[in-house]
Formats: sequence, structure tokens, C-alpha cells
Amino acid sequence: MRIAVIGTGYVGLVAGTCFAESGNTVTCVDIDEEKVRKLKDGHVPIYEPGLEELLKRNVHDGRLHFTTNYAEAVPGAHAVFIAVGTPPGEDGSADLQYVVAAAKSTAESMTGYTVVVDKSTVPVGTARKVQAALAESTSHPFDVVSNPEFLKEGAAIDDFLKPDRVVIGSDSQRAAEVMDELYAPFVRTGNPIIHMDVESAELTKYAANAMLATRISFMNEIANICMRVGANVDQVRKGIGSDDRIGSRFLFAGLGYGGSCFPKDVKAIVQTSQQHGYEFKILQAVEAVNENQKRLLFDQVSSHYGGQLAGKRIAIWGLSFKPNTDDMREAPAVVVIDHLLAAGAEVVTYDPEAMDEAKRWHLADRVTYATAPMSALDDADCLVLVTEWNEFRRPDFDEVKQRLKTPVIFDGRNIYNRRTLEAQGFTYYGIGT
Ligand code: UDX
Repeated sequence: MRIAVIGTGYVGLVAGTCFAESGNTVTCVDIDEEKVRKLKDGHVPIYEPGLEELLKRNVHDGRLHFTTNYAEAVPGAHAVFIAVGTPPGEDGSADLQYVVAAAKSTAESMTGYTVVVDKSTVPVGTARKVQAALAESTSHPFDVVSNPEFLKEGAAIDDFLKPDRVVIGSDSQRAAEVMDELYAPFVRTGNPIIHMDVESAELTKYAANAMLATRISFMNEIANICMRVGANVDQVRKGIGSDDRIGSRFLFAGLGYGGSCFPKDVKAIVQTSQQHGYEFKILQAVEAVNENQKRLLFDQVSSHYGGQLAGKRIAIWGLSFKPNTDDMREAPAVVVIDHLLAAGAEVVTYDPEAMDEAKRWHLADRVTYATAPMSALDDADCLVLVTEWNEFRRPDFDEVKQRLKTPVIFDGRNIYNRRTLEAQGFTYYGIGT
């Protein structure tokens, strides 16, 4: 099949590359000329394990193309995936101007029946808006489909090629058949393609992310109670996770959720509810708990030093919002570091992938960047673990102790064992452990 993908952000690139990998001819469109030029040469602007390799192979084999010109991508395409950004506007609701503009440009280049797919995370009701934008600009027949993605950063290729499920929202049999054919190679293992109406598909994406965010805030509150009653959240997690109805995944207390999806989607669903005259109380609390949680580690550090952080040198391991990505959007690290700097501390940090990103946007030259985890510790008063990269999981604690001025560890992800560390002479702080 021939496919066009509009927008070469995270979702567009992964979807385009994976559709090419399954044998389709895919053309990705982006208005950013510089980005398109680099992609043609096989340079991927984001860090996502496996993506660059797969992209290069498909470009080389002639199945994957990049262009700034809709007229090179849309004519003859069986399906056009809109995967442009939907940044939050001032009131928290998703800004749809790029989606609508992409729909219009698509319509202007259509030459026959086309399935237009909303792949961006968009509020309920967007498919109808896209439908209207298309109808205004073309007389060719088309159907609009909502096909939300459930990719996790760091595991996106695997998630796309072997999805738990594919959700397709459409009221057209013809469009549903095109989508079934496209996704057939990815659901050979028997995982379902779930068909539903457009609005339900749009809401499914938000409901999934909001449910997961709720689990995290819930466990963070359990952790906060644990600290007060002398319980251990890790044991409570195991105790409840063994119940099938609860399940063991996504129950890790820590510094709160970040990234490009959960914070944005929780806000958006609260906003959508308000617009429809409904107050989504649970999600308001989920968000409030998460904001508190992002500050918790700073509060622990500050109270350890009796509020006197001026002149302290704090080593931070991990900047990205989670491991295996260089993404720092809504990263708890930024909140922790901002508070530390405001309190007069000096920060030295190391992250395996996210330091370029940090230098460019989030932290600039306000902190010192170390070249290795261990050298970040030299002359530091304590170590604060923010992101649970594998390389931080089993450090040589003798060396950690030797390098730090004082053996104090704040573990924002509960990856270390309190008893082992205390036996080695460390002062250890966890989140509810
Ligand atoms: C998420 C969804 O998982 C994915 O389906 C959706 O398409 C996009 O949003 P992502 O943002 O890449 O994916 O990251 P994910 O691995 O889900 O983690 C989100 C955040 O929750 C991270 O900040 C992570 O540290 C935090 N988290 C996750 C916890 O604090 N505890 C957990 O138990 C799990």
C-alpha cells in the first residue's frame, strides 16, 4: 500500500518507519526543510532505540521517503496519517491548528478516495473537525479515522510492531478494511484490532493514559503514607500487585510522572470535562499529587541539610523523564534542580543521553555536566538519583563512598536497597521505603 505520514515527530517517524518495514511505500511530510534533509540522509533527530537503524534500512531499500511537499506524498496514497504536534494551549487544552492545517493541505493534494487518519493525540471531537476541514478543500471522497497510538518512549518500535491492541475509530466499512489490511502484519500473534466509533477511539487514548497516571499518583500517595507509618511501599506494591485484578505493572512510586503524554493528557481530559460541564475530580487530584511528588526529593534534601543548601554541591544522576530516552519534557529532574539552584546549591549532573537536550533547553549552563557517573560525585556532598537508567543500578558503592564528601544518597526511584547501603555506612533516603 501507499501511505503518507504528515509530521515527522516522534509518532510520525515511528509509524512511518514501521509501516515501511512491513512492506508499504511510505512518504513522510514535514514543513521543516532542514529536518527533512537530515532524515533523507538517515539522521534521526530523537533518541529512540532501534529507530535510526530501521529508518536507514527502509530509506536505503526505497520504501521510505521524506519531503516538504504534500503533492509528492498524498496523491495516490491509500491512507494519510496526520501525526503533527498538538501542544497545550494556555488553558491546557490541545492546540489543533497544526492538525487542521495538515488536513487542509492533505485535501488540496488528494486525487481520489483517501483514508485520513488522526494519529496525533487529539481531544474528543477532533475527527469531526478534520472531516469539516477536508470537506471544505476537496471534492474527492474520503473517510476520517481515529487511530490513537500507545507507544512508550524507549520501546516505541517494539510497541508499534507488536502492539497489545490496535484501536480504530471509524464509521466507514471501507476505511476500516484499509486499516485492517495495514495493521494485519502487526497482529499476527492474535492481539486484537478493536473497532469502535470515532469518539470512543479518541477517548480511549486519554482514558488509558489517565488510568496509568492515576495508578502512579495513587502509589505515590501510598508511599507518602508509608513514610509516615513506617511501612515500605515496595512491599505493599508486591502485596497488591499479585492480585490479578490489580496487576503488578506500573505500580512504582517515585518522583512523579513526566514526559510528553501523561501530564498533557491528564490536563486535557480535565479540560474537556470542564467544557462539557463536568468536573473530573479524580484526575484533578492525580495532577495535584504529581506536582507535589516532583518536589518531594528536593524537600528531603533540604530537610537533611536543615534548609541550608547554600554552598552545597549536589550530584544528580539522570535527567530524562525516564530511562532509554533523551526526552526531558516535564522531567522531574528539572523541578528538583530548579529548587536546588534557587536554594543556593551547586549542581553537577550526569545522564547517558539527555545532557545535550538539557544544555540546549532546560538547564543550559546553570549546572555542571560530568563526563561519567563517577566523576559527577567528586567533591559532591550527596548523590541524588533521579532517573533509573540501568547503568546507575549497580554502581561500585565503595567508589561512590570514596568520591562523595559524605556518604548520603537520595534515591528518587527506589532502585537501591536501604539495608545494604546502611550496612556500608551510607545515609539513605527512598520514596516510601
Ligand atoms: C506513556 C504511555 O505508557 C504510552 O502508552 C502513551 O502512548 C504515551 O505515554 P511514555 O510517556 O513514553 O508512555 O512513558 P511511560 O513508560 O509510560 O512512563 C510515564 C511516566 O510514568 C514516567 O515519568 C515514569 O517514570 C512514570 N512511571 C511509570 C512511574 O512513576 N511509575 C511507574 O510504575 C511507571
